[in-house]
Amino acid sequence: MAFLGLFGKKTEQLVPLRELGLTCDMHSHLIPNADDGSKSLEESVSLIKGMQQLGYKKLIITPHFMTGFYNNTADGVKKKLETLKAELARQSVDVELDVAAEYYIDYDFMHDVSKKPMLTFGGKRLLFECSFTNQHRNFDETVFEMQINGYKPVLAHPERYLYWHNCHSLMQEFHDRGILFQINIMSIIGAYSPSVKKMARWLIENDMCDFLGTDLHNANHLAAIENAMIPAKLFEKLNNGSLLNNSL
Ligand SMILES: [Fe+2]
Repeated sequence: MAFLGLFGKKTEQLVPLRELGLTCDMHSHLIPNADDGSKSLEESVSLIKGMQQLGYKKLIITPHFMTGFYNNTADGVKKKLETLKAELARQSVDVELDVAAEYYIDYDFMHDVSKKPMLTFGGKRLLFECSFTNQHRNFDETVFEMQINGYKPVLAHPERYLYWHNCHSLMQEFHDRGILFQINIMSIIGAYSPSVKKMARWLIENDMCDFLGTDLHNANHLAAIENAMIPAKLFEKLNNGSLLNNSL
């Protein structure tokens, strides 16, 4: 619903996003010293307590896996998760934690998908991200490789890839082909850029938002998510039962 505000300008009715009642998040960087997210055990605990205050009960943490930048291994991140869990138990923080990954789509990833067991969530769902500047030359082949190996690809923040901003029918095609879309909460409120916000909202309006993720890296992100307000119309779309977060 739109209202006429001062000087007759249309203003949107806003609703706090937290009223969606999301209890599970499946995209964050809260394993200490695994990537560009949390830098210490203390920081992770503090961010997790903040997430809990927002109503989250289960967090599937997804450290970056990117050859040459974040050389994480499945065993390595699982070990760090255990340390984090032990500290949370010591402080009586009652939250369910699991670890998956945010895989960067490159040649190593394409190779690994058919050779190694990958870190997944919610029944072989595989979170992956792309370059922010150029579409990967073998994007289609890599998605196909994931699918023939039994994985369900989940594209992290599809709204953040600028080279797809004018490609609405391509986005629809990706989604129809079985790629699930995870949109960042911060994109919806314009924390990255107006064009990212526009794309995020377009995807939601056109029923292409399967998961909402925090992509939480630090306390600034937490504050932005905490105060997120969105137009009532968008809220209705997100609240129509199609979001998969709480089924995980
Ligand atoms: Fe991320």
